[in-house]
Amino acid sequence: KQPRVVVVGSCSMDLVVTSSRRPGAGETVLGESFKTVPGGKGANQAVAAARLGADVSMIGRVGDDSLGQTILDNLKQNGVCTDNVEPVTHCESGTAHIILAEGDNSIIVVEAANRHVTPEYVEQARAVIEQADIVLIQQEIPAETVLLVSRICKQSGVPLLLNPAPARPVEAEVIDNSAYLTPNEHEASLLFDGAELGESLRKYPNRLIVTEGSRGARYFDGQEEAVVPSYPVEAVDTTGAGDTFNAAFAVALAEGKSIADSLRFANRAASLSVTRFGAQGGMPKRAEVEEALA
Ligand code: RIB
Ligand code: NA
Repeated sequence: KQPRVVVVGSCSMDLVVTSSRRPGAGETVLGESFKTVPGGKGANQAVAAARLGADVSMIGRVGDDSLGQTILDNLKQNGVCTDNVEPVTHCESGTAHIILAEGDNSIIVVEAANRHVTPEYVEQARAVIEQADIVLIQQEIPAETVLLVSRICKQSGVPLLLNPAPARPVEAEVIDNSAYLTPNEHEASLLFDGAELGESLRKYPNRLIVTEGSRGARYFDGQEEAVVPSYPVEAVDTTGAGDTFNAAFAVALAEGKSIADSLRFANRAASLSVTRFGAQGGMPKRAEVEEALA
């Protein structure tokens, strides 16, 4: 049976410039290319989960501009249910302004319509959340909304996977209400007030997964610290790798796989995603991940 995954989060358009280097303050440099591709952590995770075979519903918002229509069409083409992705009137769609240079990305996110993913808006979709096998959420929407979703999940016994990206402080109640947390090292130190990583991991056995980029994912299994290594690949564009990781981890958990197996599946999916341009470019279908794991 297909796991039901609900993603509450951002929908954006990524405006991506590739350049040999990034300009300093007051400087102009000539770029190499410009591309417009669908992104936003929420939409990325929804698309990744759908490609991996889950039954996915997105709860989010777009603007009433042409970008919003493109974002909606892209979600539908990927098999994501958009019944709860309503356009906001007189509002721009969220955008991410990305520079790919010197082997890494830098990103400015303009929230726009994503600010309208309010608690009141999400409340209307409460039933969808309550019927999920797992809920995925990130931090490109208001913090009050993340809090509300964490409460709905807690009350209805639905596991919540909080991907606390981009980095911002998170209320203790949200941490308590989350079944799984997947910060990177920087986000983890913000989440736990600079506490030593090993200490935080021990405090949340089998719940806190710290992602360490190309090294893999670290967690405490109740007895010891375990690292599930990632797979070495030639990275073209790491944008969206975290989203692929989180979606794949959620899908595998919802299918009843162990944490270690779910992390192997997630690392595999993420490693495939970075081999192509764009956050959603390279996000693998189920069969590709299975073939790569075999
Ligand atoms: O996680 C990657 C995403 O974050 C990009 O698609 C971009 O939209 C940024 O918000
Ligand atoms: Na990619």
